[in-house]
Amino acid sequence: MTDSPSTTSSILITDIGLLSTQTERGDIEDAAFVIEGGRIAWIGAQSSAPSADIRWSASGRCVIPGFVDSHAHLVFAGERSAEFAARMAGQSYSAGGIASTVSATRAASDEELQRTVAALVAELLASGVTTFEIKSGYGLTVHDEQRSLSIASDFTPETTFLGAHVVPAEFRDDPGGYVDLVTGDMLDSCRVHARWVDVFCDRGAFDGDQARAILSAGIEAGLLPRVHANQLQHGPGVQLAVEMDAASADHCTYLDDADIDALANSQTVATVLPGAEFSTRSPYPDARRMLDAGVTMAIATDCNPGSSFTTSMPWCISMAVREMHMTPAEAVTAATLGGARALRRDDVGRITQGARADFIVLDAPSPIYLAYRPGVNVIAEVWRNGELVEANSSSDKEASADG
Ligand code: NIG
Ligand code: FE
Repeated sequence: MTDSPSTTSSILITDIGLLSTQTERGDIEDAAFVIEGGRIAWIGAQSSAPSADIRWSASGRCVIPGFVDSHAHLVFAGERSAEFAARMAGQSYSAGGIASTVSATRAASDEELQRTVAALVAELLASGVTTFEIKSGYGLTVHDEQRSLSIASDFTPETTFLGAHVVPAEFRDDPGGYVDLVTGDMLDSCRVHARWVDVFCDRGAFDGDQARAILSAGIEAGLLPRVHANQLQHGPGVQLAVEMDAASADHCTYLDDADIDALANSQTVATVLPGAEFSTRSPYPDARRMLDAGVTMAIATDCNPGSSFTTSMPWCISMAVREMHMTPAEAVTAATLGGARALRRDDVGRITQGARADFIVLDAPSPIYLAYRPGVNVIAEVWRNGELVEANSSSDKEASADG
């Protein structure tokens, strides 16, 4: 029988064939690190590793930081597989499909919504995601947005108020009235449960002026901005995100040179969501162009029942490599450090002294395998806050008391 690692003991992770730190130290071969109190306490060559209460071998495999998923819509009810099938048969995607999920979400009980979020969070963890954001946006009433965020905040501190997802049917003839609600009573009720404010600034959703008003009200209420920008067509979303110092402009599918220039000269991360282009049969954003211009990039799942029903960050990485022309190394950085930047976090997304001990042991010699073996589960172990939270059954690792 083996000891179970716990945050009360120090743990030495040894025999790491390749450690991808996502810091200026780069990759370290034959590496080791020590975990204490859920944080990384020491990191370096295995030959100079100190002793610890528990020793845990990575058996020569590769270790990378836990993935950071900075964009997910997990609070919803119902499903839209027929809509997906219709798109694959040639129909186009429009923001209007969101309405059917709104109806189902309003009709669902708190418990039902909670169960769905818990199941999707379990999937995220299994795919190596150790930090994740959850948005509201399928309630679109004061009550339903507030309860969506209250449920989300039981799972993550990275909660986002997206009352401005679309204008709901009951406000079809009065979009200005809906913006007033979002920036008034809805924001007042939601702000205590949210860290972020988001707006879908696109065709069929909110225009630039409405989006600016919504983000400004959110900022005034103490929330930090992020933007769904330039997904369905070229528009003002990216420029607005940069203007408001948003942590992230998400989607970035249709960009012109001025958008890329603005992103490159800002603190705003460009977050790409390959699941959305896949599931809507849309052109993929040109990540190569952004990276070459010096834009900081993140990859996220965009998990939602309409445009991207995936929780698999490894699959998103493989798609970003194949379809957006990122190198495997750039894609892994975007899914770890980039995601952390998109959430303005410096305690996750990298393996360095003082960071949270969130990491993945890959059943592979290098992170390239995440794209090289598309659709194959190469996640052997997932550690979060210094605790082993997922172990693939084929993983034959064992702990032993040191000393
Ligand atoms: O990020 N773009 C807006 N929101 C979601 C889609 C939501 C839906 O279709 O239900 C997205 O892709
Ligand atoms: Fe989204």
